[in-house]
Amino acid sequence: MVESHKKYLITGGCGFIGVTVIHQLLKNFPDVSIRIMDNLSGGTAEDLKAVTDFALVKLDEIGPMKHPGVELVVADICDANAAKVVAQGAEVIIHLAANTGVQPSINDPVADMRANVEGTVNMLEAARECRVRSFVLASSGAPIGEATPPLNEKAVCRPISPYGASKLAGEAYLSAYSGSFGLNTVALRFSNVYGPFSRRKGSVVAKFLRQALAGEPWILNGGGEQTRDFIYSEDLAHAVIKAAYLTSGAELFQIATGVETSVLEMANMLSPFIEAQMGNCPKIEIGPPLIGDVARNFADISHVKNVLGWTPQTSLKSGLIKTIEWFVEYA
Ligand SMILES: NC(=O)c1ccc[n+]([C@@H]2O[C@H](COP(=O)([O-])OP(=O)(O)OC[C@H]3O[C@@H](n4cnc5c(N)ncnc54)[C@H](O)[C@@H]3O)[C@@H](O)[C@H]2O)c1
Repeated sequence: MVESHKKYLITGGCGFIGVTVIHQLLKNFPDVSIRIMDNLSGGTAEDLKAVTDFALVKLDEIGPMKHPGVELVVADICDANAAKVVAQGAEVIIHLAANTGVQPSINDPVADMRANVEGTVNMLEAARECRVRSFVLASSGAPIGEATPPLNEKAVCRPISPYGASKLAGEAYLSAYSGSFGLNTVALRFSNVYGPFSRRKGSVVAKFLRQALAGEPWILNGGGEQTRDFIYSEDLAHAVIKAAYLTSGAELFQIATGVETSVLEMANMLSPFIEAQMGNCPKIEIGPPLIGDVARNFADISHVKNVLGWTPQTSLKSGLIKTIEWFVEYA
């Protein structure tokens, strides 16, 4: 781990990835100051409580960041004034709050645009006004759209969902704020993230584990032939923390493992550990292919290895075991 910044603002810090990043930050650098801005539409204060004590601070009571310490401010990134208040004193902003996922963006593209485009510009403006040094954005593979893997940072982007378009717009604004205002920005395109603290997520690993605990079958749409690049959340958190140190203008990285695994292979890997924990294994049923489900997906991570010096450390097998153990104990 690199030496830590002292003062972080983390938006969406009560969510799956937010809690994981905060857990890793505090484990590696116990003396940091962290302020969290979250509207609690997804994560909860209890989720945050699982990794740290914190002070609940009202927007109109914000003072200098506690050092060391963790504060939660319940506020919305779509509120431009709130963004400027919470960013005061921050050295780095890790911007995770978002409308997450493709389906919600198809249901309401305007709400997706407000959260992911306006919300991101609000946070960038706050960074500019408060002279924040670095800005890290959680992006995704969705800006690229349909492409032949391995995906890399040079792929031409043709998003096929409003979510892909809004994340691409966020990346573009990071580049613009770097070019126009000298802000150090890093956009990270996360692949399929799994791990502890993901109990509410709709992604396939979390869904299978919830179903296994509820005694429900696993439905393999399209036979589970579709491939994904599954990254363990703790590895991803280390990439996020490292990215906050880059001082080279605007950067963009694929954050993935580079390993292509089919959903069926992942299910077969999970099964024996589920059986060991619970005594039996979910029945597997074959469902129809899902509309819009990408057939193959994995990333080339050579750019992030070369520039950031980051590589994932956790094999899928050991990440799945840690995730099952967490679900059995806490979910
Ligand atoms: N989990 C994945 O596999 C994955 C993959 C690619 C990209 N991402 C991106 O990573 C980021 C974090 O994802 P996650 O899985 O932790 O999601 P999550 O839903 O678990 O967490 C998001 C958090 O943001 C908060 N939030 C949402 N809208 C907000 C708003 N308008 N103002 C303030 N807070 C708000 C929610 O309350 C929640 O606590 C998102 O930007 C997401 O698009 C995640």
